[in-house]
Amino acid sequence: MPPIGGRTIQASTAEPNLITATPPSTTRSIRSRVLGRSQDQASPERPLLVLHDVTMRYPNGKLALRDVDLVIPEGDFVFLVGPSGAGKSTLIKLLIRDEVATRGEVVLDGQDLAHLPRRQVPRIRRKIGIVFQDFKLLPSKSVWENVAFALEVTGTPRGRIGPAVDRVLALVGLTDQAQQVPSQLSGGEQQRTAIARALVHDPRLIIADEPTGNLDPLISWEILQLLLRINELGVTVMMATHNAEVVTALRRRVVALEEGWVIRDEVGGAYHRED
Ligand SMILES: Nc1ncnc2c1ncn2[C@@H]1O[C@H](COP(=O)(O)OP(=O)(O)O)[C@@H](O)[C@H]1O
Ligand SMILES: [Mg+2]
Repeated sequence: MPPIGGRTIQASTAEPNLITATPPSTTRSIRSRVLGRSQDQASPERPLLVLHDVTMRYPNGKLALRDVDLVIPEGDFVFLVGPSGAGKSTLIKLLIRDEVATRGEVVLDGQDLAHLPRRQVPRIRRKIGIVFQDFKLLPSKSVWENVAFALEVTGTPRGRIGPAVDRVLALVGLTDQAQQVPSQLSGGEQQRTAIARALVHDPRLIIADEPTGNLDPLISWEILQLLLRINELGVTVMMATHNAEVVTALRRRVVALEEGWVIRDEVGGAYHRED
């Protein structure tokens, strides 16, 4: 998407780069300091997310996931790759309980989402922040209001909303654009707004479904740098993507899906199988 209103796009985000050597033992406290509050209960022994033998068959009979096993420790950065129709978005829908698995267990922070009573869904969703390809911002609200809205709907006390919104907008480098509406922003700025909104309730896991799908290569890198920085703050990140260049360059964990099967799960992987 081209910049709107002649705005020039920064090549890097405005914040200093926090990816510099952070000892693992201090990651938690940095996360709580930057994102505001700490509500961590996960221990090193209990992974944040476990999928065990998960099959998803849609009502029309389509098998979208087959026998999927996946363990994601807290703090991981995972690329979910695979061709269109492979099951990436379906897997993400199971994590946010948009859909319920036909078979198997999806366990987030010790809770099986399939057996979670409906009234407990909002509480588990607060552990997750989600970012989509098409941003999904409210067009009539400003950047600030879009981010604040995520806290208003969960009944956060007014006095806590302002500081939390200011903090995440600073983190994503949008303090100066806080009063603009989405149509006045570039694509990269809109996606950074969506990331701020996903982060504002201090989630344990950020899930991004093709977040760079509508962005040009330079801006895609900017978004990746931001997600990596958020990961360095202790937030687990799962990103579904077709962006082979980014995946191969970054050498992170790669989980590859094809026709609903996990065909590869590789630490330090490339977009395509290399053997
Ligand atoms: N609501 C649905 N009902 C029926 N089939 C669906 C539904 N959503 C997705 N599918 C099918 O499930 C398969 C996986 O889709 P999806 O998870 O969206 O893949 P990806 O995100 O990797 O492109 C595809 O064949 C798709 O057509
Ligand atoms: Mg998809």
